[in-house]
Amino acid sequence: MKAIRPSWPALVAGGLVLTLTACGGSAAAPGATSSAGDQKKLEVFSWWTSGSESAALKTMIDGYLKTSPGVEVVNGAVAGGGGGNAQAVLQTRLQGGDPPDVWQTHPGAAIQQYTTGNLLADASSVYTAEVKSAIPATMVEAISAGGKQYGVSAGAHRGNVLWYNKQLLEKAGVALPGADYATATFLADLAKLKSAGVVPLCLGAKDTFATAELFENTLLASLGSDGWNQLTGGGTGWDGEKVKAAAADTARMLQYADPDAGAMSWDQATKKLASGGCAFESMGDWAYGELVKGGAKEGDTFGYTPHPGTGGSFVAVVDTMVMAASAKNPAEAKKFLEAVASKDVQLAFNREKGSVPLRTDVDVTSLSPYQQQSAKSFAGDAIVQSVVHGEAMTPQFTQAMFDAVTQFAQSKNVDAFVQALANAAQS
Ligand code: GAL
Repeated sequence: MKAIRPSWPALVAGGLVLTLTACGGSAAAPGATSSAGDQKKLEVFSWWTSGSESAALKTMIDGYLKTSPGVEVVNGAVAGGGGGNAQAVLQTRLQGGDPPDVWQTHPGAAIQQYTTGNLLADASSVYTAEVKSAIPATMVEAISAGGKQYGVSAGAHRGNVLWYNKQLLEKAGVALPGADYATATFLADLAKLKSAGVVPLCLGAKDTFATAELFENTLLASLGSDGWNQLTGGGTGWDGEKVKAAAADTARMLQYADPDAGAMSWDQATKKLASGGCAFESMGDWAYGELVKGGAKEGDTFGYTPHPGTGGSFVAVVDTMVMAASAKNPAEAKKFLEAVASKDVQLAFNREKGSVPLRTDVDVTSLSPYQQQSAKSFAGDAIVQSVVHGEAMTPQFTQAMFDAVTQFAQSKNVDAFVQALANAAQS
């Protein structure tokens, strides 16, 4: 496995570039299409390119086009799960003074990198009294700077979910796991699956974030939510005993990973789980959207439980849209964010995405059983911010963590791994 940092032209060629209008449209390249002062185009930038991600993005675009039917929406999405490629492209464009009008990010440290650089337009006017009262105060705080709001969050994904193929577990005589599933039992079950001739652990290691997510979830199991907050808040070190124990457990789990992991993206690994090619996958619940999009049935083909040892904690990965301070089309960018804040779009977006609406006044009873229990968990569990998705630590730390995870997946050297993390946290 290798960190993927292709050059900008390669990414444009590899990225998904579509143009959508109310009545269809022709292909157009991002950047080249939105000339300054052009009121008829709006570029929306994201890394939503898998089947379920594209469908969810379309609900945002469709919701927006209801109020702005004449505008041509340029979909500047760049493929690569977790946004590894997209964020590299975005940095290049921001440095070159060519921002998309609107882009995808996360709260916390992720959005702060843009607010501190004065790269975002103030979105406070989207926060009407109705919107503000419907979004939990901590979530509003997480997209605010200097008392102003700079992003609109569409939904909360849960990062710490363990998915499984029911038939494969039954075939290997593995009991379906419950909310109190422990790391030791999980490791024993992985061994049982292997003995039964089943590929135990699905992994889309072509996306660096997927292996990092396995570690993140295992780290949360080792630390608990309070320990997590101390670690990410700088109160304890990244070379502590519990981090080491989590690294050692992750190394054990990786021994059971799909031998084809390096050639697969997260969504391919998830589809492999659905089709019976591998048994377990530790992955955020965008996997739910992808499983359902592929026709897999909750409770029939697949089941889920919190990642072992993390029941009662909810790793929040909150999809958030922001608009550029120097957007080519600021008026339409604001209308797009208003659409994202609407109840209709929040419901439609999350239905496809597998996440839950951030607005607490959205009726979720039409969403799936998985999403309804996730909404309860989001309301009642200990919420922690994700490192892997850029919320809890700086982008520099997250990148260093990805590089360290990539090396660790090869070397399994616990001491070198935690040392690299500790160094990154201090720099
Ligand atoms: C996360 C994002 C999700 C999903 C996932 C996989 O960072 O919040 O919406 O897209 O990456 O690509």
